[in-house]
Amino acid sequence: MTDSPAITRRQFLQSTAAAIVLTVPATTPMTASEAHSWFQHGVASGDPTTHSVILWTRVTPSVDAVPGSGRGESVTVIWEVAREASISTVIAGGTVVTGPEYDHTVHIDASGLEPATRYFYRFTAPTGEHSPVGATTTLMRDDAPLASLNLAVASCANWESGHFAAYGDIARRAAAHRLDLVVFLGDYIYEYARGEFTGKQGAVRQVEPAGETITLDQYRVRYGLYRTDPHLQAAHAALPWVVMWDDHESANDSWREGAQNHGPGEGGWHARQQAALQAYLEWMPVRTTAASLLYRSFRFGELAQLSMVDLRSFRDAPPSHAQWLVDGGSANMLGSEQFSWLKTQVENSPARWNIIGSSVMFSPMQITGHPQFRLPAPLPTNLDQWDGYSHERDHLLSVLAGTGKPTLFLAGDIHSEWGSTVSADGRQVGAELVCSSISSPNVDDFAQLPENNHLSLGTEAFLRDNCPHVRHVDLDAHGYAIASLSPASVRFTWVRVEDVTRADSPVGDRVGLEWVYEHGFL
Ligand SMILES: [Fe+2]
Repeated sequence: MTDSPAITRRQFLQSTAAAIVLTVPATTPMTASEAHSWFQHGVASGDPTTHSVILWTRVTPSVDAVPGSGRGESVTVIWEVAREASISTVIAGGTVVTGPEYDHTVHIDASGLEPATRYFYRFTAPTGEHSPVGATTTLMRDDAPLASLNLAVASCANWESGHFAAYGDIARRAAAHRLDLVVFLGDYIYEYARGEFTGKQGAVRQVEPAGETITLDQYRVRYGLYRTDPHLQAAHAALPWVVMWDDHESANDSWREGAQNHGPGEGGWHARQQAALQAYLEWMPVRTTAASLLYRSFRFGELAQLSMVDLRSFRDAPPSHAQWLVDGGSANMLGSEQFSWLKTQVENSPARWNIIGSSVMFSPMQITGHPQFRLPAPLPTNLDQWDGYSHERDHLLSVLAGTGKPTLFLAGDIHSEWGSTVSADGRQVGAELVCSSISSPNVDDFAQLPENNHLSLGTEAFLRDNCPHVRHVDLDAHGYAIASLSPASVRFTWVRVEDVTRADSPVGDRVGLEWVYEHGFL
């Protein structure tokens, strides 16, 4: 988003008005005099297939081998997979060498596993120290019937503006077998310097490094800090994640050749983007391809196919409103190669649903003038999302309509809850779920007003009047969302954090909606 520290925030306002058993203890950066733990950043799993899953950890082989330091020797780490949390019967395992060239991160593509099976895993240091035990699950066979799928949908975790109680809730629900997978849609970290992007009452805690992240080592330090958060560690240890980056993993409002928050004194854009990508691939549980492409897809039996699209690496610059009025949104968001890939994915999948993980909102956020007056044509408010790329959106909509099956869009980015109908030529082709932020500020935070204040409520009413496809919008809530899919329908549940300034904040279900194919929202 559009959540740069000052100006863009105002523009946004003006324009739109461990309870879990796997929880590991909180860790803090150690001093040389403290006991030295090898596993300070937890464990994670991701990108499951029917027979494999990525397992992740980071080791700290010496007290000075902190993230981004380049210090510490290369070491051999043991990994083990078992069917039981005690890891008593190892069914897959081996060793791997890591060192400062990988920031001491470890990625294992554990293969030879059974479909639709829950596994536990751990790592062991040369000293014999074990990592925390993580839980993960492989995907079912492509031809397997599947009655339901529960996806946690999350984005936008800003360290200084709040704690990550929402992640703790994801961990608890996963331990209770109420979630299958986390779909993370970007802004896992923010690049800003200390004090630049805080909450309603300032920073609840301080980022490291103190300055803006620009170099590889600076991004590594930022990821390393995030991964000391106990709620985030618990959520990674509890279930597999499928992640995609958005802009803040590099810089605000990034695109192919630059970013809003990348200036002439910060070096070349491509060097920064490459540094950001390298740190992302090191610290995330993703399966790296030779070309380092992030767009990829996953099958959930006969029920659904999830296509995760990269909306930052290939897109043209977002248009200004003046440009948009001239060309109507002809810039490309996906780029031609990724568009062809996505078209093939959605047209060839035999699964019942297409799910598209889109970091930015697909549905229009527009002003038509209603009810005050009528504009000759709807005017989009945020051209960094699909509204700025509306020709490509129309093209994708025609592809989706041609599949004759429902599409579910999952999106984040704008720190607010949205539930919308997705239509092509007046016919419903799907629905969109936009999750709020794990902790990043939204309208009431920027305005420094209580939740559900007159500005937020008035803007929500205005947006509903001007966007008839929007069934639900809340501009003040924090948390995440759950998409519960069945063959005929999808249920949206928005889960809210009561107080992001508290690590122990209550978290709970607040709003639910159901969308039924060929019927719409109930
Ligand atoms: Fe964000």
